[in-house]
Amino acid sequence: MSDAEGLQTRVVPVDSMSPDPAVIAEAAALLQAGRLVAFPTETVYGLGANALDPAAVRRIFVAKDRDPDDPLIVHIARASDVEMVAADVPALARELAERFWPGGLTLVLPRGERIAPEVSAGRRTVAVRMPSHPVARALIEAAGVPIAAPSANRFMRTSATTAAHVLDDLAGRIDMVLDAGPATAGIESTVVELEGDRVTILRPGAVTREMLEEALGRPVDVRGREAAAGPASPGMLERHYAPRARLVYLPGVMAPDVAAQARESAAAGVRVGLLLADEDAPGIEEEGLAVERLGPANDLERVAARLFAALRALDAAGVEVIYARGFARTGAGLAIDDRLRRASAAGREGGTGRAESG
Ligand code: TXA
Ligand code: MG
Repeated sequence: MSDAEGLQTRVVPVDSMSPDPAVIAEAAALLQAGRLVAFPTETVYGLGANALDPAAVRRIFVAKDRDPDDPLIVHIARASDVEMVAADVPALARELAERFWPGGLTLVLPRGERIAPEVSAGRRTVAVRMPSHPVARALIEAAGVPIAAPSANRFMRTSATTAAHVLDDLAGRIDMVLDAGPATAGIESTVVELEGDRVTILRPGAVTREMLEEALGRPVDVRGREAAAGPASPGMLERHYAPRARLVYLPGVMAPDVAAQARESAAAGVRVGLLLADEDAPGIEEEGLAVERLGPANDLERVAARLFAALRALDAAGVEVIYARGFARTGAGLAIDDRLRRASAAGREGGTGRAESG
């Protein structure tokens, strides 16, 4: 058992639409006391701590085995609370918040002085968002402080979209999990950086590039993987979101050919799994290969919502290699492609697997 373990993690069911105030009050009291509470958001489950309390924030890094250099997102219950978190809120940030909050958009802004420096891993900026999930909002409101919360998974692993996933990774390491059922978006928020009039996506996510472009009436950049080596994108690790199994991501390969590759390794004695669209699965499932259906290929939001749960299900089935097909890189497809690429970079650990040096 590592130093991080030894806690009794309580799992408390809570109604996702109208959470019991007594349960929320108990969880909020834990946060106020510097403890860790995992809670549902509309994107993925978060691991919360009081963002004003350096010791509490440090506990997050220990519980997750997270690199202390990888900064956290601060969550607020009311849009006006952004003033408490950021030192400066430019007009463009207000415009985006007005349009996309509450919801899956995270803004990188200059860090306010009350926020524990550990949240930003020493940077002058802070990432902030206002979630829409009623449980998240009730909890942050009751705690009365901004809540730092990364995704509630162990470092480098797939984000948790259910309370069971949180426990798989963090049981014994955190004080409480509020269980409100599966997260609906199932993919993390979109992280954007603002510079003058320019909006740059640092991490594609629940709010799509197209949604941002439509709201702004101008193009939005997506930080390239090469540029991700720059200092502006801490935590954009190349190897991330990884299942235990090795992931072979085959964008641009037709599903029958993906299946053919899987079949070949299965014939060589490897336990294989497949990540496919619903329409690809018939026939292949009958062969006895482990298949996770992500949804119809043309429903990218559904595919995104299922992705992390499907990776965890294949891990639980004990497969050694996962073959994944690609999807269109539009809408939610940009985030799907990003996560599958990172998860498949797992073989490059020796090369540090990191997109930046800190
Ligand atoms: O949907 C989400 O964003 C979830 C839920 C819980 O809100 N949270 C989440 O947090 O995914 P995390 O810690 O797993 O990912 C935070 C991302 C990382 O890529 C991190 O590098 C980036 O946000 N980030 C945080 N602070 C930043 C900053 N000051 N500048 C640039 N990127 C930052
Ligand atoms: Mg994460």
